[in-house]
Amino acid sequence: MSQQEEFVGAIDCGTTSARFLVFNDVAEVIAEAQEEFPQYYPHPGWHEHEPDEIQEVVERCVEEAVENLEAKGHTAKSIKAIGITNQRETTVAWDRITGKALCKAIVWDDSRTRGVIHTLERRLKEKGIRVHDDHHINSVDDLVTITGTPLSTYFSAVKLTWMMEHHEEVKKAHEEDRLLFGTVDSWLVYNLTGGVKSGIHIIDVTNASRTLLFDIRKLQWSPALLEFFGFKENILPRIVSSSEVYAEMADGPLKGVPIAGIVGDQQAALVGNKCLEPGQAKNTYGTGAFLLWNTGEEVVKSDHGLITTVAYQPGPNAKPIYALEGSISTCGSSIKWLRDSMRLIEKASDMDKLARKVEDTGGVYFVPAFSGLLAPYWDSAAGGLLIGLSAYTTPEHIARATLEAIAYQTKAVLEAMAQDHGADLEHLKVDGGVTNSEMAMQIQADIGGFEVIRPLMRESTALGSALLAGSAVGLFGWDVRRPETLNRVNTQGNQTFNPKISTEERARMWVAWNRAVERSRGWEG
Ligand code: G3P
Repeated sequence: MSQQEEFVGAIDCGTTSARFLVFNDVAEVIAEAQEEFPQYYPHPGWHEHEPDEIQEVVERCVEEAVENLEAKGHTAKSIKAIGITNQRETTVAWDRITGKALCKAIVWDDSRTRGVIHTLERRLKEKGIRVHDDHHINSVDDLVTITGTPLSTYFSAVKLTWMMEHHEEVKKAHEEDRLLFGTVDSWLVYNLTGGVKSGIHIIDVTNASRTLLFDIRKLQWSPALLEFFGFKENILPRIVSSSEVYAEMADGPLKGVPIAGIVGDQQAALVGNKCLEPGQAKNTYGTGAFLLWNTGEEVVKSDHGLITTVAYQPGPNAKPIYALEGSISTCGSSIKWLRDSMRLIEKASDMDKLARKVEDTGGVYFVPAFSGLLAPYWDSAAGGLLIGLSAYTTPEHIARATLEAIAYQTKAVLEAMAQDHGADLEHLKVDGGVTNSEMAMQIQADIGGFEVIRPLMRESTALGSALLAGSAVGLFGWDVRRPETLNRVNTQGNQTFNPKISTEERARMWVAWNRAVERSRGWEG
């Protein structure tokens, strides 16, 4: 039991499930609860969530985890602050008069907006964006200078454009000044702080940096981009830092507890993995995989298909920390696909057993471009591809090819980072659900040709938001601005996976993977 009986809670709302974890001062998990929420795939490439279902699942997780905490002899009152971390880019539109969502949320990996992208690219080229009276930009490269992100189906403003074009209620609410836009953090905080009665409408800088509407240097909404997309300013949440007291929980067992940290889940994992110094990097293998490289206060623009993103802002007046990010849309979701759609396995943990039965993929390569390819390829038209099939191919080969695909995509991102940043990584810190697979980690080391370091404590995402919330209220002496104050936070006990295949073999496989990627590109479907 923590001597001072003080804890910090973390709401971690990912793409497929929500969780609530309670940490003590050394980052031990004292109580937790997790629940999946429904996924909707109404058409190929579409992916939706019901905002109310997300909210209900989060509230149930908080209740259940608090019950678990109490069953262990602690009190709900011992939770002194709450951090929130969330799947990013997923777009929610709701009504400020009723507080109700106006349509289902469009999830980050949904690629229905390919047509919107073509229209926006044309508009950018022909009309440009008026940044000042005498300064227009009309290339994606110029746009990246403002937002850090390219024009892609991935980002929120594109999804909101689609909603306005296809949901009459959203369009009307916009015209009648009733529309509220937000990412999942905005939606959760609005509801947790009282919804239509007293809910606050905010977004933290890390989530804002994924909207395509945010100036990542000025840390402000960009009036030029609002004009380009045709959105009114009154739909936007107020921008806040990642670590400050925003408001208190309005209801439930944690009523009155301050919400004091908000951060996108991949940035949260960077913080939770204690990559707080420039040059430190981690890869989180969740639904997608996201490799973030801390670049400190420097905004590094990528020439090789990476995103420049705000990593965290450790207080309202603090300087932001930036990162280069390689976003891979399909990671754990390809394992889920083998389980739920192909029925090759019963549970995700069966992957290792299956893949271990074969020495190699028997020449099979799998490019899981379920919704196109993100970094470093940025091809929304890429189609998923299994190639090299023969009468010899078995489910075991496909399972292995799925794990290899995760590793190849990570290698591609790392190569882009090395080109941008001029540095090769000797080792890679990892976290996220897929890292529970020994096979996946060994394959990553083999294909990458570097050491893979897996910490014992793999709750980095939730921990990152807890550290930011704890820092905001001065809990346990934590201060994310001073990494030495986090020395007691237990992220020790690493396991290292070393590359075991020859350089020649690695090079041969890499060439074959790249040929498979080339064939998947520009498919359109
Ligand atoms: O950008 C999308 C990302 O935030 C989703 O994270 O953990 O659900 O794969 P995850």
